[in-house]
This record gives sequence, structure tokens and C-alpha cells, in this order.
Amino acid sequence: MARITAGIGCSHVPVLGFAHDHKKTQEPIFKPAFDGFDWTRKWIKDEAKPDVVILVYNDHASFFDMKIIPTFAIGCGERFGICDEGFGPRPVPDVEGSPDLAWHIAQSLILDEFDMTIVNEMDVDHGLTVPLTMMYGDVPEWPVKVIPLAVNVVTYPPPSGNRCWALGEAIARAVASFPEDLNVQVWGTGGMSHQLQGPRAGLINAEWDNRFLDKLTGDTDELRMIEHVEYLRETGSEGIEMVMWLIMRGALGKATKALHRHYHVPVSNTALGHIVLEPTG
Ligand code: DHB
Ligand code: FE
Repeated sequence: MARITAGIGCSHVPVLGFAHDHKKTQEPIFKPAFDGFDWTRKWIKDEAKPDVVILVYNDHASFFDMKIIPTFAIGCGERFGICDEGFGPRPVPDVEGSPDLAWHIAQSLILDEFDMTIVNEMDVDHGLTVPLTMMYGDVPEWPVKVIPLAVNVVTYPPPSGNRCWALGEAIARAVASFPEDLNVQVWGTGGMSHQLQGPRAGLINAEWDNRFLDKLTGDTDELRMIEHVEYLRETGSEGIEMVMWLIMRGALGKATKALHRHYHVPVSNTALGHIVLEPTG
């Protein structure tokens, strides 16, 4: 039987992909950001060793655009290419999918009344590749299969936090009913507080972000009730990316324990947050 063994929360700050690709991770501006992932890089390689990651992320109008805006999309293909976001595709490996598990999850979710968009061909952007880089570093092939689960947080209206949490719970049911013995992780990515444009550009709210990290841990489900307007007011126009962390948290069940946690400012315009959670039943 497949089982969800851990969840990871992680920002997707694009300049960290650039820093990695241009061998600048040890420069003073980037080093503290990367150092906060040392624990996780070792843990995932030597200890956790997931077979598959359900990687909850958002596309930034790189593959999807205003023509098609799926609220929740699941990648069921064999492989996913890397988007050109303006400077050519990042020089990282293509992403290998896990079609049998992905189709099983799509079926389970849709019969469970979550109307997923099924995507067989797509390329993925920094929302997915930067978290992979932070967790695995420089590798010739990603050492894990990935099921991309794209969430619309770019065009109003994004899904509610409560719906995201419930989707995570449904993902847990879907994984638990897959007969193959697979070690599965769920990652929630994006955030934390940031606003990239307008008069409040550069907004960071460390107090709010750290409260969010506190409440992902333990047995409270308070975070699912945060309204869109609170994300907007307290965490900036792009802070809404954090609803994706709630899909991860919902998939971990009633209670969690934090194995590792990292929060760092400044890097780019975004508060960098990272947490590794273990379900404790
Ligand atoms: C930045 C952060 C994001 O989440 C993003 O999608 C693009 C840019 C930034 O910090 O610059
Ligand atoms: Fe983003």
C-alpha cells in the first residue's frame, strides 16, 4: 500500500534557482538561504528517500495562461519539460512523472467530488523546479518521481484555504487506496509573505508567517479558515500562494511534528519559509 510519510513546505523564490544554476549558492547574499536546506538535503537523500512526491505548486502564466485557468490540475504524463520563463529553460533535468499513481489519484479525487483537470502534457516553471533544487541540489536526474499538482493562485478567484485542506485530505485517501508499496511525500510550495508590485511591493510580515508555521505543526486546523482578504492584507498580493501549503498539511492527517524549520529574510522580495513535517496520527 502507498503511504504518505512526510510533508514539506517550501518557498519557490526564482532567484535561488538562478543562484544555483550560476554556482552562486556560497555568495553571502544567498548562503543563509541555502544553508537552511542542508538538513533536509541530507535527510531526504539518506533517510526519507521518497519514491514519489506529489508536488503542489503554481504555474506563473508560464505554461497556462489567460486562455485556460484550471483551479486544480494534476499532471498524469510520463515526463514534464522545463518552461522558458524569459531567459531560456533552467538547465535542470526534465521531471519524471508517475502516471499509474497519478491516474489513480485523479480517479479517486474526481469520484470523491474534486473536479480535477487532467493534464497529460505540460512544462513546469520555477514554482516546481526551485523546490526540487532546494531539496536535491545539483543532480543529473531528479532522484524521485513527481506528480505535479498545479493550483490557480495567479488569477482571482483562487480556491479557499478550506477547500485546499479538504483536497489534501482527499489526496491522503487516494494514496492510501493505491495497492503498490510506495513511499510518498506531499510538498506545499510558494509563499511566504510577498508582494511583487504596486505601492506595497517588498512587503514582508515575519510575525504572521511564523504564526502560520507554528500552526502547521500539532493538531490544530485553524489555518484552513483564513480568508483570502487576510492573506492579501497581511502577507501581500502574492502571499495567497500559501493556500498550497494547506493541501500538504491536509494530506498529513490529524497531527504533525516538525522535523526541521527555516525562515530567512532577505532574499529577493519574498520571505523564504521551509518546514519538514511528519504525520503523527
Ligand atoms: C518572486 C517570488 C515569487 O513567488 C515569484 O513567483 C516570482 C518572484 C521574488 O521573490 O522575486
Ligand atoms: Fe510565485
